[in-house]
Amino acid sequence: MAGASWPPLRAGGAERCSLAVNDLWYLAGGRALLSGINLTLGRSGITVLMGPNGAGKSLLLRVVHGLAAPTSGAVTWGGRSLNEETRRNIALVFQKPALLRRTVAANVDFVLAARGVKDRTDRRNELLETVDLANRADQPARLLSGGEQQRLALARALATDPCVLLLDEPTASLDPASSLRIEQIIALVAARGVRVILVTHDVGQARRLADDVVFMSHGQVVEMGFADSFFSAPQSERARAFLDGRFVL
Ligand SMILES: Nc1ncnc2c1ncn2[C@@H]1O[C@H](COP(=O)(O)OP(=O)(O)OP(=O)(O)O)[C@@H](O)[C@H]1O
Ligand SMILES: [Mg+2]
Repeated sequence: MAGASWPPLRAGGAERCSLAVNDLWYLAGGRALLSGINLTLGRSGITVLMGPNGAGKSLLLRVVHGLAAPTSGAVTWGGRSLNEETRRNIALVFQKPALLRRTVAANVDFVLAARGVKDRTDRRNELLETVDLANRADQPARLLSGGEQQRLALARALATDPCVLLLDEPTASLDPASSLRIEQIIALVAARGVRVILVTHDVGQARRLADDVVFMSHGQVVEMGFADSFFSAPQSERARAFLDGRFVL
């Protein structure tokens, strides 16, 4: 990562990176998949979203990104509703990286071109250096390992110069070293002022990265607060059980 100059420093993040979710409901198939979610997240920092399988974490990420429309309730970024312009500030990385069947370099160039970046070479090289893939630039992306593909997906997300990065279990299938590498990149990006919302089941990772934690279960926010208090003294039985590795439905 030596010499990487991206992303630019944004002291404290920008107002447009702050999220407010107000009484959000998502109903499907006769079920409430998200039930009355209220959240206010400041303009910078790393929020970790945790909770058991099926809690609604991925769905909530999709809704705050604008990929899925809620049944009711409001999502605003910096006080503004989701629209084409506000969505341009938000990048989403899925658990399974979505890549083009082209070279590593072309995968990043494609995003830069779509954003109208003229001088792509320098920018692409910076991004690939940030994710330690500069020496793989000319290889087909499909030949990369899972961890490398995930890093390329991150580079593609960062190529949009987002002020918000939404990450859905970005290290779920990676070995410990690759996971730590992704964590370092996430920490770097957040330190540069990008607002991060990270879904993870990895409690160690959450402890290492989180400024605050939102704990969900059954489509509801059960608990939210500063990471230190959440991990040292979770308030709800569900969160305690989750952190102890006990099965909770
Ligand atoms: N568009 C949809 N239509 C119907 N059901 C859906 C839809 N999207 C998600 N679900 C259901 O909503 C629930 C929450 O799904 P979601 O993927 O958000 O869970 P999650 O917390 O991300 O779980 P995991 O930890 O397993 O990834 C699940 O029961 C899922 O089957
Ligand atoms: Mg999920």
